[in-house]
Amino acid sequence: MTNLLSSSNAAVSTQPEVEAEMAAVAATAVEGEPQPRLDYPPYRSSLLRHPTKALHPANPEGIELWSPVFGEETIDPVEADLTVQHEGEPLGERMKVTGRVLDGDGRPVRDQLVEVWQANAAGRYRHEKDQHPAPIDPSFSGVGRCLTDAEGRYEFTTIRPGPYPWRNHRNAWRPAHIHFSLFGTDFTQRLVTQMYFPGDPLFSLDPIYQSILDPWAREQLVASYDHDVTEAEWCTGYRWDIVLTGSHRTPLEEEA
Ligand SMILES: [Fe+2]
Repeated sequence: MTNLLSSSNAAVSTQPEVEAEMAAVAATAVEGEPQPRLDYPPYRSSLLRHPTKALHPANPEGIELWSPVFGEETIDPVEADLTVQHEGEPLGERMKVTGRVLDGDGRPVRDQLVEVWQANAAGRYRHEKDQHPAPIDPSFSGVGRCLTDAEGRYEFTTIRPGPYPWRNHRNAWRPAHIHFSLFGTDFTQRLVTQMYFPGDPLFSLDPIYQSILDPWAREQLVASYDHDVTEAEWCTGYRWDIVLTGSHRTPLEEEA
């Protein structure tokens, strides 16, 4: 979930002011620079949080002693269906999102732990930090996970999330999105990003989406509607591939 806190100073900025800031930064884009731009003032809470030093080398084996780990046997197929985790059915547009995790040469990345978290149809997270006045759905937790198959494919059934307000500036709204994490083979490889929906009118207004300065790279975060994934009388379908390396890779957070 996005950090919902910001300084009182930042809260007084208006949308046009933030858009002007975003345009000014966009004018400084350098071809081939890492995406997203980590030092990105329009995204207020990132100012103090973004890395300012080189990454610290870590011994993967040492980190394994205290970092989260997982075993394949602990993952239940039901965890990939966010609509059946409670007694009642969640409200909203039932949808399926599927795609492949690929390396830079287009090869499938198998047995990858893919985790997702998202707001409900009303744009509300089930999290104490999210107190905006939209309903919590008692039948929806908004978290799921699965492993990629032999073709690198993942698939989730869920509810389409709603956009939500955050306090980056006055009247700031996030485009609807699903957070994705790929665990890798150990915790030091974990990658985190967000998937968006095609045609969202909030794209041009959102400092998180716009912190990826390269328009082509931004588009890699937008899923495609796919009628072959859509199921008759049941759910709509979206397709989104994640490319881990190479020039076509999906932009990922926390990159240096
Ligand atoms: Fe979020």
